[in-house]
Amino acid sequence: MSSVRGKVCVVTGAGSGIGRALAVELARRGARVAISDVDDAGLEETARLLGDAEVHAQRLDVGDRDAVQSYAAAVAQHFGVVHQVYNNAGIAFRRSVLESEYDDYERVFAVNLWGVMHGTKAFLPHVIASGDGHVVNVSSLNGCLAQPEMTHYCTTKFAVRGFTESLRAEMLAARHPVQVSVVHPGGVRTNIADSALKKAKELGLPVTADDERRHKLYTKKLLRMDPAQAARIIVDGVEAGRARIMVGNDARLLDAFVRLLPARYTKFVAAVERRAAAL
Ligand SMILES: NC(=O)c1ccc[n+]([C@@H]2O[C@H](COP(=O)([O-])OP(=O)(O)OC[C@H]3O[C@@H](n4cnc5c(N)ncnc54)[C@H](O)[C@@H]3O)[C@@H](O)[C@H]2O)c1
Repeated sequence: MSSVRGKVCVVTGAGSGIGRALAVELARRGARVAISDVDDAGLEETARLLGDAEVHAQRLDVGDRDAVQSYAAAVAQHFGVVHQVYNNAGIAFRRSVLESEYDDYERVFAVNLWGVMHGTKAFLPHVIASGDGHVVNVSSLNGCLAQPEMTHYCTTKFAVRGFTESLRAEMLAARHPVQVSVVHPGGVRTNIADSALKKAKELGLPVTADDERRHKLYTKKLLRMDPAQAARIIVDGVEAGRARIMVGNDARLLDAFVRLLPARYTKFVAAVERRAAAL
């Protein structure tokens, strides 16, 4: 029997992609789920996919600290207990350091870093009180490997890894009944890259034909794993109590590559980038 059966699991960014697939997988294994997103239509569709499962669905911007605090209280009151929180909501963005505005960094940090920290802080007392808790924070392959023109994303994903590993050590040292996992997905076939391009256009940023071509190439060649498979790997990792959950061979191989050549891997990454630009 699945160890998440009967547990109350919170999933942020559940209106699409990995978050939606996580909610579906957790419900399939018998969990009760609290789902949230800023995308009402996406959230409604996820709730529909959860069928007969016990579901709490609410709009939530993870970057809004007060809203996340009230949300945690509302979920705890609704179910009477909270066992697991999956801080999954995230956004991508591509722009060089020279061209980036501080607003670009603030927008990405609000969701990818503060969102994870708000979700962890607000739910941690409930997760500890459950007596059998788990905090699951979604980083990325880009929490292990940095790529050019992705300083916003890479900074947050490396930080999520540091925050989560520190929290894990803290829970172990204090002997709290809480497991902590950081998740590093490789390429998963979701809306993340399309949403980033759409957002850049909405912001009136210059999007060249070259950017569009590179976007198509990136989406087609790199974002390949089915989100349902990614969710199964993540929940299996949670059930096994893994500290570090690598999702996909791309994540595993590139992580090993970075650890093998920590000072030189960026040269390789830059060469691949130049080749992709020349295609
Ligand atoms: N898809 C990949 O290849 C990949 C790889 C590595 C890591 N990840 C990470 O996985 C997580 C999920 O991404 P995905 O690929 O499923 O993307 P996605 O775009 O399909 O889903 C992300 C969801 O987060 C929601 N969201 C955005 N801003 C929000 C906010 N302020 N508050 C609440 N919800 C918000 C979006 O509405 C969307 O429903 C992210 O943290 C992402 O960085 C994805």
